Amino acid sequence: MNKTLQHLGPVCAVVGSQWGDEGKGKLVDILAGEYDIVARATGGANAGHTIYVGGKKFVAHLIPSGMLHPKARCVMGNGMVVHLPTLIEEMEVLDKAGIKVDGRLVISDRLHITFDYHKLIDGLQEKRKGKNKVGTTGRGIGPCYTDKIGRFGIQMGEVLDEKRFAAHYRENLERLQKMYRFKHDGEAELKELKKAIKRLAPLVTDTSLYLAQALAKGKTILLEGANGTMLDIDHGTYPYVTSSNATVGGIITGTGLPPMALTSAVGIVKAYTTRVGSGPFPSELDNALGESIRQAGGEFGATTGRPRRCGWFDTVAVKYAVRVNGLTALNLTKVDVLSGLDMLKIGVGYMYKGELLKEMPSDREILENCTVVYREVSGWKEDITGITDFTKLPKACQKYIEALEKYVGCPMRFIGTGPNREQMIVR
Ligand code: IMP
Repeated sequence: MNKTLQHLGPVCAVVGSQWGDEGKGKLVDILAGEYDIVARATGGANAGHTIYVGGKKFVAHLIPSGMLHPKARCVMGNGMVVHLPTLIEEMEVLDKAGIKVDGRLVISDRLHITFDYHKLIDGLQEKRKGKNKVGTTGRGIGPCYTDKIGRFGIQMGEVLDEKRFAAHYRENLERLQKMYRFKHDGEAELKELKKAIKRLAPLVTDTSLYLAQALAKGKTILLEGANGTMLDIDHGTYPYVTSSNATVGGIITGTGLPPMALTSAVGIVKAYTTRVGSGPFPSELDNALGESIRQAGGEFGATTGRPRRCGWFDTVAVKYAVRVNGLTALNLTKVDVLSGLDMLKIGVGYMYKGELLKEMPSDREILENCTVVYREVSGWKEDITGITDFTKLPKACQKYIEALEKYVGCPMRFIGTGPNREQMIVR
């Protein structure tokens, strides 16, 4: 193991540090080969971790992407919300690719189940919000977490008891149908779920105990974050956020690991900024340049296929992510996408009503109406795809990265120069 990887220690968290889609899957995939266990803690099928193995694309929505490493054991933690048929589909894709799931995947008995009616409610809520819609992924995430926090939710452990589960399901559906005025064929869903539950039952366990026992045996754990810091329900651009804690705090409650067990936290940041869905995005490039970055970076959602909004790197947002997550290192991704530009802009502050703001404001009114203060730096023309040595990068590219590091106050120890595993500078 090289020095940078050793520095991460036995329990490392990897979290998105912008608005999601930063490219977490690739670092997780690289590190998964070094860790015994890979665990996911929060979110559900709203996340989409894209990994390229041998040039082949694989998108994991629910299963930790560490599954692609034959030796890694994978955990789906208690903080997740899981649509069981989607999980089964992913398992089947892996099965067909010759990747063994049984004996390697454990599922928390405390995680919450997302049902088809949660998806319906997600759609209805968005429709009712009209122009103020969140632009959700439509995966039922918000309604499922609403049930969880409202103490109506159905946990994985409960579905194993068929009678008790069916009664609770019917009761919930009846209440929700009245509340949101919709109709859903619950009996058909219950019937469909039977097979899925039978298939999953042997994998269900107390995963916080599993992780504690693994720690006691000296096993190493990689924690795979989902979504992104600016989408965190508490720390993100509320209400244009997801319904869980996408920050390191969520990883702790979402697995049951003791906070002091964590030895490092790596934040993933794209060399520019993207966002899908609605909500403030101060450094957005709603113009031809934004479109050309979208095309060059293939910025279309892994989960919904929606075009991602693109913009300059915002150091105010990332500095905030470094603070609320306690990040010990960053992984800058997709720097190669910026090759060919004459000039790059770095967002270093927000101007609002004549005042310069250098810290992330909580008020969306400010974020929607501020102007970004930029620092301009030179671009580079050379193709940098696949470079693995920092000193081989064009000088302008090195300077861009060093400027970002200075503004956000965290070292960029991993720098992605292409989609494949091996296209990464580690320093
Ligand atoms: P939800 O999580 O489907 O409720 O969506 C809430 C907001 O978070 C929407 O703007 C989504 O586009 C965004 N979102 C949720 N998960 C991700 C993700 O993994 N990447 C990027 N955006 C996400």
